[in-house]
Amino acid sequence: MSKREDDVVSNGSGNIHLQTVVEQQLASPARRAAIRRGFGLATIPFLGAGSAAALGGCGGDDDPAPAATTSRPLGFSAVNTSSGDEVIVPAGYAAQAILLWGEPIRAGAPAFARDASQGWAEQEQQIGDNHDGMHFFALNAGGDGPGTRSDEGLLAINHEYINPEYLYAPGDDTDDWLLPFTVEKVRKGLAAHGVSVVHVQRAANGTVSHRLDSRYNRRITGYTPMDVSGPAAGSALLQTAADPTGREVLGTLNNCAHGYTPWRTYLACEENFNGYFGNTDPAGRALTALERRYGVGTDAGGGLGNGFGYRWHTADPRFDINATPNEPNRFGWVVEIDPFDPDSKPVKRTALGRFKHENAEHVVAADGTVVVYMGDDERNEYLYKFVSSGRFDAANPRAAANRNLLDSGTLNVAKFTGGSTGGQGTGTWIPLAHGQNGLTAENGFADQAAVLVNARAAADRVGATMMDRPEWVAANPNKRGEVYCTLTNNSRRGTTPASSNNAAGTTTAGSARPPVDAVNPRSSNLWGHIVRWNEAGGDPKAIAFSWEIFLLAGQPGVTGERAPSANINGSNVFNSPDGLWFDRNGRLWIQSDGSYTNAGDYAGMGNNQMLCADPATGEVRRFLVGPSGCEVTGVVMTPDSRTMFVNIQHPGEMGSHPNVPRNAPTGQQQIGTAWNDNQIAREPTRFSRFPEGAGSGRPRSCTVVIRKLDGGVIGS
Ligand code: FEO
Ligand code: CA
Ligand code: CA
Repeated sequence: MSKREDDVVSNGSGNIHLQTVVEQQLASPARRAAIRRGFGLATIPFLGAGSAAALGGCGGDDDPAPAATTSRPLGFSAVNTSSGDEVIVPAGYAAQAILLWGEPIRAGAPAFARDASQGWAEQEQQIGDNHDGMHFFALNAGGDGPGTRSDEGLLAINHEYINPEYLYAPGDDTDDWLLPFTVEKVRKGLAAHGVSVVHVQRAANGTVSHRLDSRYNRRITGYTPMDVSGPAAGSALLQTAADPTGREVLGTLNNCAHGYTPWRTYLACEENFNGYFGNTDPAGRALTALERRYGVGTDAGGGLGNGFGYRWHTADPRFDINATPNEPNRFGWVVEIDPFDPDSKPVKRTALGRFKHENAEHVVAADGTVVVYMGDDERNEYLYKFVSSGRFDAANPRAAANRNLLDSGTLNVAKFTGGSTGGQGTGTWIPLAHGQNGLTAENGFADQAAVLVNARAAADRVGATMMDRPEWVAANPNKRGEVYCTLTNNSRRGTTPASSNNAAGTTTAGSARPPVDAVNPRSSNLWGHIVRWNEAGGDPKAIAFSWEIFLLAGQPGVTGERAPSANINGSNVFNSPDGLWFDRNGRLWIQSDGSYTNAGDYAGMGNNQMLCADPATGEVRRFLVGPSGCEVTGVVMTPDSRTMFVNIQHPGEMGSHPNVPRNAPTGQQQIGTAWNDNQIAREPTRFSRFPEGAGSGRPRSCTVVIRKLDGGVIGS
């Protein structure tokens, strides 16, 4: 997410920083072959499968499906950057938009009203907003359970947040389109959040459609009842007047990135949950240490004590931290959903810790131990690893014995140490276990529930390394124990204030600016970087690891501390890596969620985009560019790797950003004037009409299906 990004820094721990300057290590510049293709909904013949051969993998993807292989790691022609309002894919590829925000989730559900006049009762039967992380669950031959088919499966899609200016039809008050703000509007917002499970099928020509008649189609929202499990279930910290047991929560919010399990369930991860809660009386009481550590009840971008500025707390006391002070503790978790059982109740798995979760990437160790890597996406927060105490029975993946493996284990946090030269080093995983490493009652941790609810403070205590906003983690399927993480950017590190991306990046009270260190080597890291590590002995559950910088994004030609790595050049520039995913063939896909000003520090980078990297050589090539004001996030393929799904989130959001050169669909260019939400709500097609184009009522997040025209493996 960009506009509703939490702009606070909550970590005042003063944890370790290392004074090592990185050196660039990587070579192999990408070849430039810029060919642009327009986006279209036209059906283009799909020519059927090419040859495929099994490729032995050993890591992060446990789908029991044959992997296709290719001798060309990056076999496509790079695309140019763009500031247009379209999706661009390489020559020889086609793109198709499906599952637009507001489309019916099943047969009989109401069609989308382009003027946004519908309420929660319609929205809860429609696809949610702001698509983010996503997984494809292949169906079996009978279509009634998990399998390996590529022509039929279930897409589980996160809906991270809402853009009120697009979600709500404007009222009559000329100064404030949101008035009157009612509990019905809260409920519409909640209904647009959560997860969609959608039954999709692929036709012989490669196009994909939504099977509206399927029993699997399901919406999970911000008010769907879900269980709480693991060590924090029932904790006094999770109890409210509405739920004195502390074991049942209504809904999941801010589902950013995701994960899936080897027993074929989906993990929806809760990120910036704090932004939904407001303080109706900001001066009335001091915030608790727990609230402050998670940015609850503070200005998270929408005004004093108003979080995102959604106003939910003004109409629903559940979101008022004075009326319901423990409600925020019931968010910030990883939620497990069984897409194959539409009647199943989602479960918040507290053993995985409470923070601003990005994704949850699993690897199964040789002995069956399940390891889950997770980032906490805020400036100067940490990287975590859960290690299960039980072992996965691969012979019976859906067996009951596997289903609760995420309830018991050890949550660890990473500490990075610099090596003898720049850009590499070693590290350790430190357990966050009650009674160890100072996590005791005397130090404020009454039990393991307290450690997990306040995982950030526990990580502070054990001396974890503050990172430049850990986003997605991706495990290399061809090298067990090798894992990558995007560090998207950090305007609050080092002694150099941020320049064009964040004027607020200077030191403020309560906002620490830790110095640069070996693994976060740049002051005011505008463009972000990617680190990879190898667990000792190739064992995912190891305590020790070695690490190196894989990529430093940025502007070629810039020297000194801000210099990009050698694998960044004029043809693959981008900023703010976020989504990160290995396909079955070992290609590493990188998605960006950064500045699309295309000016200053970001000149030549255009709209947000998706690139592909060869982990063996470090070569990076641009594969896709998104439309105006969007973030490109969420990527997965069918088991045969011949259909790719990519999400386009918040097209048109650029309107409220200052200093954005805008090529609006009307052809007018406007620079330097931000529109406020009141203006955008009244002219919602001003900054994007994606994906519908002419006739659109407003921009709509959606899933884009990508296929190769020759029917081949994506990326080959
Ligand atoms: Fe929702 Fe950290 O991206
Ligand atoms: Ca993200
Ligand atoms: Ca992001």
